[in-house]
Amino acid sequence: MINPPRRAQRALLAAGATAALAAGLLTSTATSQAATQGPCDIYAAGNTPCVAAHSTTRALYGAYNGPLYQIKRASDNTTKDIGLLNAGGVADAAAQDSFCAGTSCVITVIYDQSGKGNKLTQALRGYWPGPAEGGNDNLANAFEAPITVGGHKAYGVYVAPGTGYRNNNTNGIATGDQPEGMYAIFDGTNYNGGCCFDYGNAETTGNDDGNGTMEALYFGNSKGWGWGSGNGPWVMADLENGLFSGVNRGFNAGDPTVNHRFLTATLKGGPNQWAIRGGNAQSGSLSTFYNGIRPTVGGYNPMKKQGAIILGIGGDNSNTGRGTFYEGVMTSGYPSDATENAVQANITAAGYSSGSTSTGSLTPGSRISLRATTAPCCTSHYLRHNDADTKVVISSINSSSSATDKADATWIVRAGLANTSCLSFESANKPGQFLRHYNYQLNLNADDGGSAFAQDATFCSTTGNSGTGNSFQSVNFPTKYLRHYNYTAYIASNGGTNTWDSTTSWAQDTSWLTASPWS
Ligand code: AHR
Repeated sequence: MINPPRRAQRALLAAGATAALAAGLLTSTATSQAATQGPCDIYAAGNTPCVAAHSTTRALYGAYNGPLYQIKRASDNTTKDIGLLNAGGVADAAAQDSFCAGTSCVITVIYDQSGKGNKLTQALRGYWPGPAEGGNDNLANAFEAPITVGGHKAYGVYVAPGTGYRNNNTNGIATGDQPEGMYAIFDGTNYNGGCCFDYGNAETTGNDDGNGTMEALYFGNSKGWGWGSGNGPWVMADLENGLFSGVNRGFNAGDPTVNHRFLTATLKGGPNQWAIRGGNAQSGSLSTFYNGIRPTVGGYNPMKKQGAIILGIGGDNSNTGRGTFYEGVMTSGYPSDATENAVQANITAAGYSSGSTSTGSLTPGSRISLRATTAPCCTSHYLRHNDADTKVVISSINSSSSATDKADATWIVRAGLANTSCLSFESANKPGQFLRHYNYQLNLNADDGGSAFAQDATFCSTTGNSGTGNSFQSVNFPTKYLRHYNYTAYIASNGGTNTWDSTTSWAQDTSWLTASPWS
């Protein structure tokens, strides 16, 4: 029989705290803790407890069994809290699926698991005016970042430009020059150069209150203030009026391009010291990208942190950044590298996966290619996007086609952005870009977070209009179906005012075969 301390130690190893044990950090306390540890249990053992813990995918404490986030559905504006499958476990994504069936849902609240009440809600208009819809930021579509964690389906927070969450009235978050740490898991393939896809400490005013009034993780390829090696994206620190990849603004070679599908990014700061680290959230350890003194340019030492929390936006509500957030925490105190290493071990053990392993079916998560059925012209043609522009066309693809052509003709099926019972199609090689109609022509565009985009990008699958395969009906123009006409893709009705509404071959042109993905 295994003696009790041994058994507890094994459980802890299984929970991914190997590095902490190796560092001798958790030996006395950890052996008496619950078998399942979360990142915040590890931070607490390192004397740097979480004061904010946000995730839509899993519990961040072994014992947490409360709500993770709240969603609101469009059909009747009612809300629902999404909890866990079990204490310390993964989100109950099926509850979201059933609540949102036949309509769309947005994420309205991301709860704070730390007990400090630091939940995140819709960011309100700040210094920058915000999106066209009226000044306040958009809420994230609840279905746009589907993944699996430990084999269970979960949803992340997809931040299209214009989307933002904030809490300006927090409890226990570092202010002034007080030490703090934070980490987040991002999608390292979904980013842009806008300002600023951030998570962390910001102004309680929503305005730019000057250098040193923020300390937040930034992820993207902005070169506006600072940048690192390669072409980006980079993990940087947003310290206000500057994204820092090292000691000062500008180029810092130590900050590498990182684009892991699941990326762990950490930031910590205290009196005249700060560090950024990062790694692959699916395996391996963290690397240190910067560890040193505060910027020597004015205003950042000592810091003047105000203690609000932002997600997806800059401190002054600049909201042109793009990214995806799965989980993140903020701590009180400056975490040791050993504690962060143990958290990384816990993250890699959690089993984040893109989850799109199935192929060839019209099921969300599946990779497919869509073959035209019109004979004799087009039966070797597939729906694909151009590279030179955003148009969507059909072209012949076969096994000798270039890898780019094959990828351009491959789509990831998603639950419909405007109606989860219908479908959206995300490009396989342009993450975050969807098939959508505009002026009735099909384009590949990045989601702008607005409801018009969601409608334009949603298609309801029906039996093929010719009796073969499937047809895809526009959700906001139900008489129109996805059609190729003169090798270009449109939404078209069977007779109408546009040339592509021609009744000739309409039924064949609007019928598609779902095929194995070309890439
Ligand atoms: O520091 C970069 C950005 O500058 C901040 O996020 C924003 O508040 C300001 O515009």
